[in-house]
Amino acid sequence: MPALSGDGRTVCVTGAGGFIASWLVKRLLEKGYTVRGTVRNPGLVRLVRNGVWNGPFQPDYITQACFEEKMIEPAIHGTQYVITAAADAGVKRVVFTSSIGTVYMNPYRDPIKPVDDTCWSDLDYCKQTENWYCYAKTVAEQGAWEVARKRGVDLVVVNPVLVLGPLLQQTVNASTDHVMKYLTGSARTYVNAAQAYVHVKDVAEAHVRVYETPGAHGRYICAESTLHRGELCRILSKLFPEYPIPTKCKDEVNPPVKGYKFSNQRLKDLGMEFVPVLQCLYETVKSLQDKGMLPVLPPNDQDELMMTL
Ligand SMILES: NC(=O)c1ccc[n+]([C@@H]2O[C@H](COP(=O)([O-])OP(=O)(O)OC[C@H]3O[C@@H](n4cnc5c(N)ncnc54)[C@H](OP(=O)(O)O)[C@@H]3O)[C@@H](O)[C@H]2O)c1
Repeated sequence: MPALSGDGRTVCVTGAGGFIASWLVKRLLEKGYTVRGTVRNPGLVRLVRNGVWNGPFQPDYITQACFEEKMIEPAIHGTQYVITAAADAGVKRVVFTSSIGTVYMNPYRDPIKPVDDTCWSDLDYCKQTENWYCYAKTVAEQGAWEVARKRGVDLVVVNPVLVLGPLLQQTVNASTDHVMKYLTGSARTYVNAAQAYVHVKDVAEAHVRVYETPGAHGRYICAESTLHRGELCRILSKLFPEYPIPTKCKDEVNPPVKGYKFSNQRLKDLGMEFVPVLQCLYETVKSLQDKGMLPVLPPNDQDELMMTL
């Protein structure tokens, strides 16, 4: 049997109890790494089998950030603190979880051309459209590159699109709610919008690959495929017809919005193969059911369904 690539070496995963991070911890442990995790609430973490769990520890900056209510400041300063702490500790490589939100939000980009690692979101446009998530992530990633350059840290960035798949944690995170709301009846219609998706295991794997590949550098878009919200609802209805999934678009006037095209070639060049979105959606819903976050309904029993929801 080949030696595990981790070979007991220590890596640190910040926010280790989160949706993506918990899968990353799991993958790293499977690969033989020793994982040191940072969490804000150690009581919430129930990890992990088949490996070593050294931690958690709670650095000051994480504790301080608890009192900060805004999204932008913690994203920007938290990122800079982590890179600075890594530089101080002599960490060899930092892999930063950024977002596609730092890439595509730009009114001046050519809509025909796939977005790739060279594209950056336009901060003024993020502000005008009040897309504070993309604004915060863009400033945070730009700050990360700046601090890394100044401090000589070897930084590599992963830019995932919307992440779905089974949950390891006990709460529904924002990206899982993207699917959940179409199953509970809380969304009566779907919006006229498109979205790219990726499986959480692929996001974890992407982090490990860019960490382990000596020549990895720059930004890596982590995406499988794009669906219009109508397609998403149709797939969910086929897979789980027992739920009250919307059949109508909120916007009955305009043609369906086309999503941005993207290139995931850089990760494919590192040997990545992506889980198809259909499987990803299936596993997401099954996981919500298994964890008791979504009631399991008898197939097509509408009366039962209305009572349960
Ligand atoms: N999920 C997606 O679709 C997606 C797509 C692209 C990029 N991303 C990025 O990937 C990262 C993880 O996302 P996720 O979906 O895994 O989110 P998640 O499940 O909500 O996890 C977020 C993690 O960050 C920690 N955190 C939040 N605010 C913090 C603060 N002020 N100080 C210290 N720690 C803080 C949380 O700690 P607690 O457990 O203590 O709350 C949690 O562990 C985020 O940076 C997100 O922007 C996510």
